Amino acid sequence: MIEHTFWHPVALVSELTDQPLGMELLGEALVLWRDAEGQPHAWADRCPHRGAQLSLGRVCNGHLECPYHGWQFDAHGQCTHVPALPGFKAPATHVAHTHAAQEAYGLVWVCLQADAVDGVALPVFAAETDAQLRKVNCGPYDVATSAPRIIENFLDMAHFGFVHDGWLGMREATAIDDYTVEPTPTGLRATQCKAWQPQSNVHSTAPAQVEYTYEVVAPYTAVLTKVPDAASVALQGFRESIALFICPLTPESSRVWFRLAMADFTSPDTKLQDFQHTIFMQDKPVLESQTPKRLPLDLRAELHTAADKASSAYRRYLKQQNITFGVC
Ligand code: FES
Ligand code: CO
Repeated sequence: MIEHTFWHPVALVSELTDQPLGMELLGEALVLWRDAEGQPHAWADRCPHRGAQLSLGRVCNGHLECPYHGWQFDAHGQCTHVPALPGFKAPATHVAHTHAAQEAYGLVWVCLQADAVDGVALPVFAAETDAQLRKVNCGPYDVATSAPRIIENFLDMAHFGFVHDGWLGMREATAIDDYTVEPTPTGLRATQCKAWQPQSNVHSTAPAQVEYTYEVVAPYTAVLTKVPDAASVALQGFRESIALFICPLTPESSRVWFRLAMADFTSPDTKLQDFQHTIFMQDKPVLESQTPKRLPLDLRAELHTAADKASSAYRRYLKQQNITFGVC
């Protein structure tokens, strides 16, 4: 599967402590754990001895210990200790099934096809390196639908006046001005996306016309950037941004995090998170109601208008990429 060659977010950096953590990625059970240097690891959650779940074990002196017979594995997956045979030196074939793991954007990322790691970069979140923007993560949120349905919801402005009435939109102003969509090497970019928003963010005091750029930067990652208005350009023109990072757990279930890059350095984290939480809780029941849960890539399967051209472009991109997980 081409999806195995991409990096996927699997957990908050802060969630991965000194206990092994079991989770799922692309339908495969993984155990996440940290070695003595604090490096994250992601392995198949199955002991190569008798198939027990390694995530039920523990981390012992920087090695992962299986819960069943206590075999220990070092950071490379090599078995270093078989308690039933204390003198036994395990050969190089006694290894756990390892994957590539790294930390970025406050999350642990995993690539299941380690030989692809040199080829595929992490999704780019440009605001990350902007020191004038503070970064705060929200989530995880478990959502009973495919990752592509969630990306499409994020790209969609025509639902604001209904799902987010009084917040990101209002029923009295639902028309979508024409916008531009272009393909990029890693997805697509939609520009000049304008909305009349009663409460576009946690600090809004009055309705305002807001302009956004939406980008898909990997099959299951999207970024929205607020285009500064003239007044805020004068005030250094911060380009506040939100990344949507999704872990495709199974074809029809997903785990979601948002990473906010905000100019506000004074509000507590919870204030920024609460706003995003409110918005996403409005989206979630509608997202989970959509059928089929997998995104149809045949454009004839659902109806489209010009207001949906970002989503149509996203479906074409997934098809070109030969994405099969979470689509139909
Ligand atoms: Fe893991 Fe035996 S099943 S040590
Ligand atoms: Co929404």
